[in-house]
Amino acid sequence: MKSSFSFFPEAASTFAPQVDALYMFLVLLTLFFTVAIYFAVLFFALKYRRTPENQQGVHIHGNNLLEIIWSVIPLGIVMIIFVWGAVLFLRGIHSPEGALEITGVPKQWMWKFQHPQGKREINQLHVPVGKPVKMIMTSEDVIHSFYVPAFRVKQDVLPNRYSSVSFEPTKPGTYHLFCAEYCGTSHSQMIGSVVVMEPADYQAWLAGTAGAGTPLSQAELGQKVFQQLNCQSCHSDPLRAPALEGLLGKAVELEEGRIVTADRNYIRESLMNPNAKIVRGFQPIMPTYSGQITEEEIMQLISYLSQSPNQAETPAAQSTGQAPPKGV
Ligand code: CUA
Repeated sequence: MKSSFSFFPEAASTFAPQVDALYMFLVLLTLFFTVAIYFAVLFFALKYRRTPENQQGVHIHGNNLLEIIWSVIPLGIVMIIFVWGAVLFLRGIHSPEGALEITGVPKQWMWKFQHPQGKREINQLHVPVGKPVKMIMTSEDVIHSFYVPAFRVKQDVLPNRYSSVSFEPTKPGTYHLFCAEYCGTSHSQMIGSVVVMEPADYQAWLAGTAGAGTPLSQAELGQKVFQQLNCQSCHSDPLRAPALEGLLGKAVELEEGRIVTADRNYIRESLMNPNAKIVRGFQPIMPTYSGQITEEEIMQLISYLSQSPNQAETPAAQSTGQAPPKGV
């Protein structure tokens, strides 16, 4: 961290300069109009001041041309800000193919993260430099907000649904991680750090300290959850329940005829509220797993269900041959 004054916090992601450019535009625009308006006030106050006593002003009843000009020009300016901001927003939530997917479950008052290879950490987030990272998060209690100023990234994390945000770090270093949504007594202490490492260092870090053993990957943990909950007792019978292999990202036809993408939120909802969406051709017999499974276990389960079906015994019954993009 630089100790000298700087206008912006350190910029350490590909996204940061783009946000700074918009911010700089807003600052310069504001500065321009502030100066212009104050000079105009001063100029008109001097030029049109009352010189002889009892001088009367001319009565003016509006000027359409003037009205149009001072409506259209500001409209154009705010449209530039709107479009520019919207493009940046969409870029921020879009994650490129092949992004490293790290899951996070914040709770009062800590940040818990898990890497695809299974490594967990609290209040620290290790990521490799130069590789897009997609954070997939849900809260265990109230609304939190994932905020890394150096990346210009801020995303609210809500309970009962998945929020995601992407970034690509450009500089190794340690950066602040804040919770940016008031979440109770110790909100201000819900802070941590993001450690950006060279890819080789990240791999070494993932491999862990000697003797600790290799942790199970998210998908392997998910397979355990799958077995513990005995999901296969119904889902291996194609007459009772739809097949689940490689489900994440697939198109699913519902009883009412609608086709939805089996994204993370869909799978989560199917576990917690199974009757919300019934797959075509099946009876609503699935019980809810609300209260029986933690958010982390659901994420692991989804990771397991994202695996391609080639390891599984039965081919996925719902495959439509097309591969829709993975949603959140
Ligand atoms: Cu979590 Cu504020």
